[in-house]
Amino acid sequence: MDWFFELPKAWCPTREAVDLEKDGRDWTRVLDPRPAAVVFPRCSEEVAEVLAFCTRYGIGVVPSGGRTGLCGGAMATQGELVLSLERLRSLGQVDPLGLTLAVGAGVTTQEVHQHCQPQGLTWPIDLASKGSSQIGGNLATNAGGVRVLHYGPTRHWVTGLDVVLMDGTLLSCGGALYKDNTGLDLRQLMIGSEGILGVITSATLRLTPLPRESQVLLLSIAELDQGLELLANARVGARLDLLAFEYFDDSCMQAVQSVRRFSSPFAERAAGYILMEVEGGLEARLEDWFQSQLESGTILDGVVAGTSSDKGRLWAFRENITESLGHLGLMHKNDVAVSVKDLSRFAHQLRNQVASAYPGDVYLFGHVGDGNLHVNVMKPPEMAPEDFWPACRAADVRLYELLQSYGGSVSAEHGIGLLKKSALAYSRGPHEIQAMRQIKQSLDPQGLLNPGKVIS
Ligand code: MLT
Ligand code: ZN
Repeated sequence: MDWFFELPKAWCPTREAVDLEKDGRDWTRVLDPRPAAVVFPRCSEEVAEVLAFCTRYGIGVVPSGGRTGLCGGAMATQGELVLSLERLRSLGQVDPLGLTLAVGAGVTTQEVHQHCQPQGLTWPIDLASKGSSQIGGNLATNAGGVRVLHYGPTRHWVTGLDVVLMDGTLLSCGGALYKDNTGLDLRQLMIGSEGILGVITSATLRLTPLPRESQVLLLSIAELDQGLELLANARVGARLDLLAFEYFDDSCMQAVQSVRRFSSPFAERAAGYILMEVEGGLEARLEDWFQSQLESGTILDGVVAGTSSDKGRLWAFRENITESLGHLGLMHKNDVAVSVKDLSRFAHQLRNQVASAYPGDVYLFGHVGDGNLHVNVMKPPEMAPEDFWPACRAADVRLYELLQSYGGSVSAEHGIGLLKKSALAYSRGPHEIQAMRQIKQSLDPQGLLNPGKVIS
C-alpha cells in the first residue's frame, strides 16, 4: 500500500506536478526538486502527527517555509515528503508593554512589520526577501539581512519557540520571558539549525520601537577601501547612528539598472557604491560629514533621501540585486565573512588571486558593516550548466582556503543546507562537527528530518 493514500485529507496532501515543483525547491537553481508529496498541516498538533507518521513509515521530511533560501536547505531532492508551514498563520496581539508578539511559522516577515507598525514597533529583521520569507524559515536559518549591523541577527529577537521533534514530541521553549536561565537553551539550539533538529511551528518575537526619522545616502566610491574608510569615519569619527551600511560593485548596479529599468542617480559610473541609512533627521552633523567626505575625495558623488518614497527609491538599487542577477543568468553564490578590519585586504586578494579561477564574471555586494560579502559568479552564456557548477566548486576551494587563513566564515548568513556542506570544515573544526552529529543523532536517530542537510 502506498503511504500517500494513508495521509489524512485535513493535511491537503498533493502529488500534483506543479506543487511538487513549487514546494520542493528554494531559490537555488543547482539541483532539481524530487519530492514524493506535499502536505499542509494547520497547527503544531498536526505537524506533530505528520512527523509521527513519517517516523512510523521511515519517510524523510523537508520543512518548507517561504523557500527563499540560497543553499538548498529547503530542497527535497530524494523523494521526501515536503511539510509546508504556510497554513500556520496565527498573528497574535502586539504586547506594547513587554514588547513581544506571538506568530505562526507561516507568517511572512513583511506581515509582521505591517502588523507592528501602527503601534510604533517593529521586529527589526529586514531582508530583501521580506515579502516572501516566513518567520519559521527566518528562525530556522538565523537569517541576517540589512540591519544586522545595528540590531544583530535573528537569534537576538526571539523569546520563545514551539518546536516539534521528529518523533512527534511538542517542545515549548521560552514563551514571552526576557530572562530565563534555566538549563540548556534549546531555543537557541533550534535557531539556525536549518530544520535538521526540529520543526519550528510558532515563535514569540521580541519587538523594538521603530527608528526615529532616518536618512538614506547612496554614495559612489572608487574602491571598497574607501567604503571602509567611510564606515570608520561615520561610526567612530562623526558618531552617526548607522542603521545599515551596504556595498555593491558597479556590475551589480548595471544589472539592477538594466533589469529594473532604473536610471542612475549619478552623472558618472563608479567602481562601487555604499548605501547607508542613518538614524535621525538631516542634522548639521550628517551634512558636515557628507560635505567633508566629498571634499576629501572619499566619496565621488552622493545623494541623500529623507522622505519615505525617496528612501525606497535608493534602497531599491540594493534590494533588487539578487533578483536582477538571477534574471540575467545562472549564478553560483557564496556568502562569506571575515572580521571587518581584514575586509579590505581580503577583498583585494579575492579580486587578484581568486576571481580569475571562476569561469564567469564576479559580482560583489554585501553587508560590509558586518564584514559580509556575497560573491556571485555568472554563468557565461556559452557554457553548459553541467560544466559551470563543477568549475565553480573547484574554484571555491581557493576561496575557502583564503577564508580559512583569515579565520573567516564560509556562510555568514545563508547557512549550509545542501550546497555548502563540503565547505563546513573550512570554518568549523572536526570536534565541533562531531558534536553537531551527536546532537542530530540524539534528536533524530533515523536521520529523517531534512535529510542530508548541513551534516551527513
Ligand atoms: C542579500 O543580501 O540580498 C541576500 O543575502 C541575498 C543574496 O545574497 O543574494
Ligand atoms: Zn545578504
